[in-house]
Amino acid sequence: MSKYLRASLGNDFGYTPGEQPSDAEGWLKLNSNESPLPPSAGVAAAVAQAAGELARYPSPVAEPLRSALAHMHGVKPEQVFVANGADQVLDCCFRAFASPGDPVVRTDPGYSLLPVLAALFSVRDVPVPIDVGGALPRDFATGSAVLRVVVNPNSPTGHWIEPETLEAALHDAMGVIAIDEAYCDFAPASCVPLLASHPSWLVIRTLSKSHALAGLRVGYALGDRAVIADLNAVRDSYPVDRCAIAGAVAALEDREHHQLIVDTVLRERARMGDRLIALGWTVEPSQANFVFASPPDGIRAATVAARLRAARILVRHFTLPGLDAALRITVGDGPATDRVLAVISSLDG
Ligand SMILES: Cc1ncc(COP(=O)(O)O)c(C=O)c1O
Repeated sequence: MSKYLRASLGNDFGYTPGEQPSDAEGWLKLNSNESPLPPSAGVAAAVAQAAGELARYPSPVAEPLRSALAHMHGVKPEQVFVANGADQVLDCCFRAFASPGDPVVRTDPGYSLLPVLAALFSVRDVPVPIDVGGALPRDFATGSAVLRVVVNPNSPTGHWIEPETLEAALHDAMGVIAIDEAYCDFAPASCVPLLASHPSWLVIRTLSKSHALAGLRVGYALGDRAVIADLNAVRDSYPVDRCAIAGAVAALEDREHHQLIVDTVLRERARMGDRLIALGWTVEPSQANFVFASPPDGIRAATVAARLRAARILVRHFTLPGLDAALRITVGDGPATDRVLAVISSLDG
């Protein structure tokens, strides 16, 4: 860091993503909640074709992807905001709705990017500890806030709140409510159908997980056309490039492949969870594409992470108090589950 960095950010400022080793290094990556399968075969062809048109700027609102997403969700194109990943959608929520000093409410634990954005935008970060089991506490909705962010299913726990329960909990909440549904395709239901009755709500989604496009960077928000117009007013000029627009459209068209990814995750999530429980682990109920699990007494999470690492398997160990006793393990394909379980079964406390 140089002496010129804004003093308010502090010296160790920045989001810490999961480790991203070079693709050539042969790691089994279960630390960033990526898809166990590659994207639809149609994606590469669509990207290659779009590469022939790179002399021209892309559509500022990411057409025809925006219309494809609108069609998929049964809303109007003006109700869709597309950006360079869900992370950029969240960034635009801070840009659009929060002035310096304004309170922004989030859950704790929750997505670790949110406090980083709060610092970046000089807003007041208000973490609200969630109840045991993942329920939203009453004070999440009360009190003033210009923006409240709920991650559902939550990360890193995988806990999921039913849309109707969430609706009841947020009934009288002021400000914009952003529901980050990055992992929703692995859960039983979405809040999208509730948007029609809540003009201050946004549902944020990504193609990084269930469409296997983490490397392409496409995320979006759905909501009332007025709040979507707010996001468009603060976005970069061309947030989604031509290759990403084309590749994302191709991925959306291949419903069968998308279902295969979801089915693989659901099957392996159940297998991983059951086996870990049988080995004495505590496994949080997950509706996401990862499990958050703590080893039995006498075995430290950090030790398990190190043993997995020695076997060239990366998982996520958060060192924050309250989270450090567990590991977040992304659900992979069948052989990935086998590899993880083989290492864990061989631990002897
Ligand atoms: C809760 C949550 N929201 C958003 C994202 C980022 O999504 P994207 O890859 O579209 O930026 C992640 C990434 O892991 C996430 O866990």
